[in-house]
Amino acid sequence: MNNSLNGKIALVTGGTKGIGKAIADKLSNAGATVIITARTKPEESLNGQYFIGADLSKAESAKTISKQILEKYGKLDIIVNNAGANLTPGGGYSSLTDQDWDNELQLNLMSAVRINKALLPLMIEKKTGVIINISMNPAIQPIWEMTMAYSAAKAALNAYSKALASELGSKGIRVNTVSPGLVKTPQMHQAMENMSRSLNITVEEATQSVINKLGGVPLGRPAEPEEIGDLVRFLVSNEASYITGAIYQIDGGSMAVV
Ligand SMILES: NC(=O)c1ccc[n+]([C@@H]2O[C@H](COP(=O)([O-])OP(=O)(O)OC[C@H]3O[C@@H](n4cnc5c(N)ncnc54)[C@H](OP(=O)(O)O)[C@@H]3O)[C@@H](O)[C@H]2O)c1
Repeated sequence: MNNSLNGKIALVTGGTKGIGKAIADKLSNAGATVIITARTKPEESLNGQYFIGADLSKAESAKTISKQILEKYGKLDIIVNNAGANLTPGGGYSSLTDQDWDNELQLNLMSAVRINKALLPLMIEKKTGVIINISMNPAIQPIWEMTMAYSAAKAALNAYSKALASELGSKGIRVNTVSPGLVKTPQMHQAMENMSRSLNITVEEATQSVINKLGGVPLGRPAEPEEIGDLVRFLVSNEASYITGAIYQIDGGSMAVV
């Protein structure tokens, strides 16, 4: 057990499932007080984590969340903008409506933009804080059959994160991006099912096709959510005190470019 986050208050959006849950649990285990958000309250025990229900694709949710954090804790040290999803059908440009594009941008870009804007005053006041935005490798290496609008929204998140890191460094706040490849989560399974339906192939064929498009996974398997959680726990700790403006690929070696 590592107590490097004792005394820290951390927000993890989408902290009830998959990668977000693994991150929230890693931060709790390292001593942080953790606030998690999602649309649906989990049925299982929250292990001391504080749940706020909110749909982050809606503009007003950032205000609801920041109000509750301010009233209950009065400060915030760590934000992990993890909530995100591939909301659109596969099949390329002609399948995507204006509404599809807007849905992707609201959840995968604007949710983080709004959460940070609402909560940054708490960090700026104390001249300290860490933000992690969860992106994904297809932001750099899009897969047209599957992630066109989703990749474009996450690419915008990468650019926003870099700009934010440059703006906030002098205020004592670090901003980094974590970019996973394939991770074994409920969402990954759903994405493979969607792709198999739209291309009329099996889920196994869809999964293999994604792995092939990525040029294979040198480590030979998708990530476990806990492996992403370990990286985030490190990046939000003082051990990472000189790291800001970085994009960390965590993909078993699958990104085939330098
Ligand atoms: N899985 C992968 O292979 C993979 C790879 C690269 C990057 N990522 C990124 O990692 C992040 C987490 O993905 P995951 O695979 O762990 O997803 P997941 O298993 O589907 O979990 C998503 C979490 O976000 C919440 N959420 C979803 N839509 C929301 C909304 N509109 N408002 C508020 N909360 C919402 C979910 O709870 P509710 O449904 O109850 O709201 C859940 O807690 C995403 O940003 C994704 O883009 C995933």
